[in-house]
Amino acid sequence: MTTAIHSPQNRHLQGLRRLQRRRERASSGRFLAEGEDLIEAAARAGWEALEGYRVPGSAIGGARFRDVEPAALAAISTLGSGTRAIAVYEQRWSAAPAGPLCVYLHGLSDPGNVGSVLRSALAFGAGSIALGPGCADPYSPKAVRASMGAIFAVALARVEDPATLPGERVALVAHAGEPLAALPERPLTLLIGAEREGLPDALVQACERVLHIPIATDSLNAATAAAVALYETRGGDLRSPAPPSRVQPS
Ligand SMILES: C[S@@+](CC[C@H](N)C(=O)[O-])C[C@H]1O[C@@H](n2cnc3c(N)ncnc32)[C@H](O)[C@@H]1O
Repeated sequence: MTTAIHSPQNRHLQGLRRLQRRRERASSGRFLAEGEDLIEAAARAGWEALEGYRVPGSAIGGARFRDVEPAALAAISTLGSGTRAIAVYEQRWSAAPAGPLCVYLHGLSDPGNVGSVLRSALAFGAGSIALGPGCADPYSPKAVRASMGAIFAVALARVEDPATLPGERVALVAHAGEPLAALPERPLTLLIGAEREGLPDALVQACERVLHIPIATDSLNAATAAAVALYETRGGDLRSPAPPSRVQPS
């Protein structure tokens, strides 16, 4: 029987700490999921952890999980309250964004927003999220957490040329173009711009449609705008099956 890891200086735990950095995630192609709920969501979606760490008595199991003293795991965790389990996974990137409903993010630099869009994309049945230049890493701990497990269920693709986006391209721009009710049928891609700058003019002009969500203020948060537009693509039909992953709200 192996004894529990008790030092945060343990080389495996230091490896977890390194994966909190974007550069390490990019070079290794790996990422972290923190918390029993996220790790269970990964398992339900068919993702196998490459390695994992849990406090003794955790419900998380498997041959690849090792016990760690709670204080040592808390020292590595990015959650202020500590965590009961952390696991490492291989990142998955699709070669191209998939339809018939896709969300393209341009310059969305807040990982919480990227994770929230993932969560909405899963809720409203989007096939993929396409990430343009300047986006936060969807595999950062904050984005993974904000996705509430959707990171394991929605395909991700990096996109350099927006001409490759599936279906009709719909630029979402506050107070411009037609109201959201003019949304076309699928296949379509919703384009969401950066928190401060919005979508570049040239990109908006290249889109087949420009739509706005009628509001009484300057603009909505980018993730909120994505959620409203995604909802509208369903035409009000929300008779969806039970959710594939349930992560407790934090
Ligand atoms: C915080 S807003 C950017 C505000 C920026 N100052 C601008 O003028 O575009 C971030 C993104 O959310 C989307 N968005 C926000 N409010 C919207 C609205 N009322 N209608 C359509 N899209 C909206 C747009 O895609 C926008 O680029």
